Order: sequence, then C-alpha cells, then structure tokens
Amino acid sequence: MAQIFHPGFNTLARLGVLLAVTGPVAVIMGASAISRSSFNTKVGVAPDQPIPFSHEHHVNELGIDCRYCHTSVEKAAHSNVPASETCMSCHSQIWTNSPLLDPMRESYRTNTPVKWNLINKVPEFVYFNHSIHINRGLNCNTCHGPIQKMQMTYKGQYFHMVWCLECHRNPEKFVGKREDVFSLYERGQRTSANNYVGRGVTRRETELLRHGGLVPREGKELEEGKALVKQYGIKTKQLTDCSICHR
Ligand code: HEC
Ligand code: HEC
Ligand code: HEC
Ligand code: HEC
Ligand code: HEC
Repeated sequence: MAQIFHPGFNTLARLGVLLAVTGPVAVIMGASAISRSSFNTKVGVAPDQPIPFSHEHHVNELGIDCRYCHTSVEKAAHSNVPASETCMSCHSQIWTNSPLLDPMRESYRTNTPVKWNLINKVPEFVYFNHSIHINRGLNCNTCHGPIQKMQMTYKGQYFHMVWCLECHRNPEKFVGKREDVFSLYERGQRTSANNYVGRGVTRRETELLRHGGLVPREGKELEEGKALVKQYGIKTKQLTDCSICHR
C-alpha cells in the first residue's frame, strides 16, 4: 500500500480508489450470481396461468402444429402467444360451457389479450431472433425442453451466455434439416407408448423428445452436420463475436 498511496491520502480516498479498481468486477459478479440463483432461473417449475393450457393435450394428443398458435415463430424475431380467436376456432364448439375457459371467452368478448405469465426471457442487453434458428433446423425442444409432453408449460432451459456459446462455437453438432423441425412432433406421435423410440425418429430426436436440450451429433453423424453448416453458409468464427448478441 505504501507504494501506491502517498502519505497524504486519507482512509476514505483509499477506499474509493480500491472500489474503483474492484467495483465493476464485483458488480458484474454480483449481478450474475443473482441472475443464476434458482429463484430467478426456475427451470422445470410451471408458473400459474389464467387458463390451465396443456401442450401435451393440444400437441401430442390432438396433433396441432406449433405454427397454428405461434404463427410468427418461423418469420420473426419474437414468437407470439396465440390470441383468443385462435382458441375460439375450436372452443366456440368444444368445451363451450367449461369454467376453465372463462378467461378466454372474456378476452374474446372484450377484445383484450389473456394475461399469460411469460416464461422465457433474455435480458434487455441480449439480442435473440427465432426465425434464423428455426431456419437452421434447430428444434424448439433444444431450447425449451420437451414442450409436447408438458401439461403446464415450464422453462426447459436457463439461457446462460455459455449455454448459447456452446452451440455457437460448434454449430455442426446441432443444426439440422428445416423440414424436420415441425415434423418431429408428428413422427413422435407415431412412436411406441410415448417412449419416442423407432419409426422414423433418430437417436438424437428420441433424446430431444424425451428431455430436450443440447443433444450433440457424434461420430459419423458429425459429417452430416458439417455438410449442413457449409450448405447454410454459416460463418462459425463470427458466431461468437460479442456484437452478434450484444448490439
Ligand atoms: C393450441 C395452441 C398452441 C399450440 C398448438 C402450441 N402452443 Fe405453445 N403456447 C400456447 C399458449 C396459449 C401458451 C401460453 C401459456 C403457456 O405458457 O402454457 C404457449 C406457450 C408456449 C411457450 C412458452 C412461452 C413463454 O411464456 O416463454 C413455448 C416455448 C411454446 N408455447 C412452445 C410451443 C411449441 C414448441 C409448440 C409445438 C410443439 C407449441 N408451443 C404449440 C399455445 C399453443
Ligand atoms: C384445433 C382445435 C383446438 C384449438 C385451436 C384449441 N383447442 Fe383447446 N381443446 C381442444 C380439444 C379437442 C380439447 C379436448 C376436449 C376433450 O378431450 O374433452 C381441448 C381442451 C382444452 C382444455 C381443457 C383441459 C384439457 O387440456 O383437457 C383447455 C383448458 C383448452 N383446451 C384451452 C385452449 C386454449 C387456451 C387454446 C388457445 C390457445 C386452445 N385450447 C386451442 C381443441 C382445441
Ligand atoms: C435457439 C434456441 C431457441 C429455439 C430453437 C426456439 N426458441 Fe423460443 N425462445 C428462445 C429464447 C432465448 C426466448 C426468449 C426471447 C426473448 O426474451 O426475447 C424464447 C421465447 C419464446 C416464446 C415467448 C415469446 C417470445 O418470443 O419472447 C415462445 C412462444 C417461443 N419461444 C416459442 C418457440 C417455438 C414454437 C419454437 C420452435 C418452433 C422455439 N421457440 C424455438 C429460444 C429458442
Ligand atoms: C443449438 C444451437 C444454438 C443455440 C443454443 C443458440 N444459437 Fe444462436 N445461432 C445458431 C445458428 C446455427 C445461427 C445461424 C448462423 C448463420 O446462419 O449465420 C445462430 C444465429 C444467432 C444470431 C444471429 C441472428 C442474425 O439475425 O444474424 C443471434 C443474435 C443468436 N444466434 C443469438 C443466440 C442467443 C442469445 C442464444 C442463447 C439464448 C442462442 N443464439 C442460442 C445456433 C444456436
Ligand atoms: C450467442 C450469444 C452471445 C454472445 C456471442 C455473447 N454473449 Fe454475452 N450474454 C449472452 C446472454 C444470453 C447473456 C445473459 C446471461 C444471463 O441472463 O445470465 C449474456 C450476458 C453477458 C454479460 C453479463 C454478465 C453475465 O455473465 O451474465 C456480459 C458482461 C457479457 N455477456 C459480455 C459478453 C462479451 C464480452 C462477449 C464477447 C466475448 C459476449 N458477451 C458474447 C449472450 C451472448
């Protein structure tokens, strides 16, 4: 200390200089610690919703395509949660008296959206775009967990920076064919006893349907991934630039 602070420095000033040096690091570490605590991550915990909407029922049993309700997911940065008109296309005829659907009928009548609790979100300083990911053949379950099995929707994945980078460093392990993204749920319906094995579903796809998450290609499958990266013209080096996600 003697070398850094000349004798005229009072204690308060020393503290100030020390804080200036260590402060930003401490603040970032503090912020990350808070954002990573289980209170804030809530993976696997379904929040209450105004209507007990079940993806299991509508996707797995009835076989409705994601895009019927999330109409913008392929085309826009943000995916939308469906308006009540979308639900009413069926529920003006089915379950018309169920009190479970009261909030939806009320919303339809008054032309105000149902107040769903938003589950997935990245912080304001992070840019994310759905359409590009879907167009590179990444299945929804990679980032959202096994949606088609959920009675009540929960968060499948907390979006840590290192998690995004895990794929951005090695996209060949994860990209797929565009046509497989939505057909997977339909093919999954045809597999044995909800176990998702066989009948036109690959080993990786079985894992995606059962648990979701980052399921890497291995061995010979890696060659297919490398070919897709080339075909899509993905510039892997640039995918880890800070400015891609922080603009
Ligand atoms: C019949 C309409 C419908 C279909 C089909 C549907 N969803 Fe949803 N989805 C909803 C509604 C309503 C919500 C909001 C309530 C909730 O979170 O459960 C929602 C919420 C979500 C969320 C959470 C959004 C958030 O708050 O962060 C994800 C992720 C999602 N859906 C993915 C999918 C995927 C993937 C498919 C296809 C496999 C799909 N959905 C099919 C209606 C639908
Ligand atoms: C393509 C038709 C269709 C659409 C669109 C649709 N539903 Fe359904 N929904 C059904 C059918 C069929 C049932 C099951 C009836 C049964 O099994 O008795 C059902 C059942 C339900 C139930 C009863 C609980 C359950 O899961 O069994 C709720 C709640 C529900 N739907 C909410 C919604 C909401 C909210 C939307 C809009 C986001 C929606 N539905 C869109 C066809 C649809
Ligand atoms: C590469 C990862 C990834 C894939 C693949 C993905 N999502 Fe998302 N999703 C996210 C992230 C990250 C958010 C939070 C976005 C935000 O806060 O701006 C999100 C949010 C959502 C939301 C909430 C509304 C919104 O846009 O903020 C819905 C609904 C949704 N996703 C549906 C889907 C559906 C349906 C699919 C498949 C067709 C899908 N997602 C595929 C990462 C992904
Ligand atoms: C499983 C793989 C995977 C995951 C997980 C993933 N990405 Fe990506 N991301 C890609 C691929 C592939 C591309 C497309 C690169 C291309 O075509 O040039 C991409 C592109 C992007 C782009 C560029 C979009 C544009 O318009 O140029 C942004 C921004 C991005 N990702 C943000 C994120 C964020 C934030 C997360 C984490 C929440 C994330 N990604 C998670 C694979 C992934
Ligand atoms: C593929 C997308 C992506 C890229 C590339 C990326 N980041 Fe991030 N970054 C994120 C996400 C997502 C978060 C939010 C994490 C959270 O909410 O915990 C984040 C958070 C941060 C934070 C806040 C502290 C923390 O760890 O949560 C800092 C600082 C940061 N990024 C710096 C950088 C720098 C510097 C680079 C370039 C070397 C970079 N990022 C590249 C996605 C990205």
